[in-house]
Amino acid sequence: MAERIEVSGSYRNLKQRGQAQISLDGKDYAFPVVEGSEGERAVDITNLRKACGYITLDAGYQNTGSCISGITYIDGEAGILRYRGIPIEQLAEQASFVETAYLLVHGVLPKKQELRDFRNLLTANSMIHEDMLTFFHGLPRDAHPMAILSSMVNSLSIYYPEVVSEEDSDEAELNIAMARLISKIRTIAAFSFKKSVGEPFVYPSNYTYCANFLHMMFSTPVQKYKLNHVVIRALNQLLILHADHEQNCSTSTVRLVGSSKVNLYASICAGICALWGPLHGGANQSVIESLEEIRSNNIPVKKFIEMVKDKNNPRRLMGFGHRVYRNYDPRARIIKNTCGEVLGYLKRSDPLLDIAQELEEIALHDDYFIERKLYPNVDFYSGIIYRAIGIPTNMFTVMFAIGRLPGWIAQWKEMHNSEPFNIGRPRQIYTGPTVQDYIPISAR
Ligand code: CMC
Repeated sequence: MAERIEVSGSYRNLKQRGQAQISLDGKDYAFPVVEGSEGERAVDITNLRKACGYITLDAGYQNTGSCISGITYIDGEAGILRYRGIPIEQLAEQASFVETAYLLVHGVLPKKQELRDFRNLLTANSMIHEDMLTFFHGLPRDAHPMAILSSMVNSLSIYYPEVVSEEDSDEAELNIAMARLISKIRTIAAFSFKKSVGEPFVYPSNYTYCANFLHMMFSTPVQKYKLNHVVIRALNQLLILHADHEQNCSTSTVRLVGSSKVNLYASICAGICALWGPLHGGANQSVIESLEEIRSNNIPVKKFIEMVKDKNNPRRLMGFGHRVYRNYDPRARIIKNTCGEVLGYLKRSDPLLDIAQELEEIALHDDYFIERKLYPNVDFYSGIIYRAIGIPTNMFTVMFAIGRLPGWIAQWKEMHNSEPFNIGRPRQIYTGPTVQDYIPISAR
């Protein structure tokens, strides 16, 4: 059992490691150097503008620490990922997604009774408000599931307006709001699938988290979905592997939007929208689309690799590369193994897996990828498992969102409890026209 740990993102959790000197306009300024619990160091420039009138410029935030966080640790060079200090490999092998969600949101692994209570809370909050079904009835069949998901999650604030923000809600209210989100996101996802295939909605049951999702997705009034442990385990594992990844695009969005003190549902909705893009969570859909393209057009894999390396071609090898990992993404390694297990158990083969493996093999020995340290990321193999389970390609990013939800919530909570608390508001360097007079339209 992990020890109860400090969950707040506070300056108090940093070690002081001397000072950094900066010379500007002939004057010297000193700024504190701070260190986190894994030895990561930063120059704390909180007072830079106040002290000398300068700001820093860091497009894409490649060197900017936007917060202090005790949730997830990544060492991109070494390929390490830990939630609350626990290696991702141990969680993926031994924990359930619900347990992992509790760990992220509450900061510690749950005791037996705590886990039972959390499970019951999720089950009790798994149905969506019956009136929300009218939304589904009005949607076009071919609506993208991410558009449905983000709209429905935002509309939870219409049906459950009582939880407004971290500070206006007591702990019990917040726990219910979090349970609602973690539980209902799965129901919304399954209902959007049923809508797309024109089948009646299947209401949640009191199965475990992943079994319940599969039941809502694939049971019909005439046939109950046959649950099997290999698929349930694989799904648990995929959700665990996606559950948090520190300050990526969607998580930073949740924090930034949440820092205006808007409600939890609206903040999460913003994160879902950010995740949708193909450079982020949408990559899992793009990977399968690329593999399909290679297969259906008989494109030689070597030629495809040349295409993604060509700087005159905007195409990239989707599912490869990462802003933080300069090594094999530890999540991709686990997913690749599980791919084999699931296909083996279901006695299926997937030609796309063969193409993916060939792409990986060639890329890992190609100077372009070696020099840039580009390796498979979490999205490279996940789609093969989703396909084998029967989840349609346009729902892959929805699966990512279901997994990432506990992380977003944990980060939102931590952001609200951080000290000091500030609304997120970056600066810019202006390069537009200098002052000029308005010219009336008759004179233009
Ligand atoms: N295929 C081909 N070239 C690539 C790729 C790729 N997948 N990724 C990066 N590069 C090249 C890029 O062209 C650049 O080359 P050069 O230095 O010659 O200009 C160099 O590698 C560095 O790339 P970058 O775009 O500056 O790196 P970044 O850290 O800004 O981008 C990334 C990270 C994930 C957006 C990028 O690697 C990418 O577009 N990958 C494909 C999309 C993808 O799989 N996204 C999912 C990420 S993991 C899930 C998640 O958390 O979102």
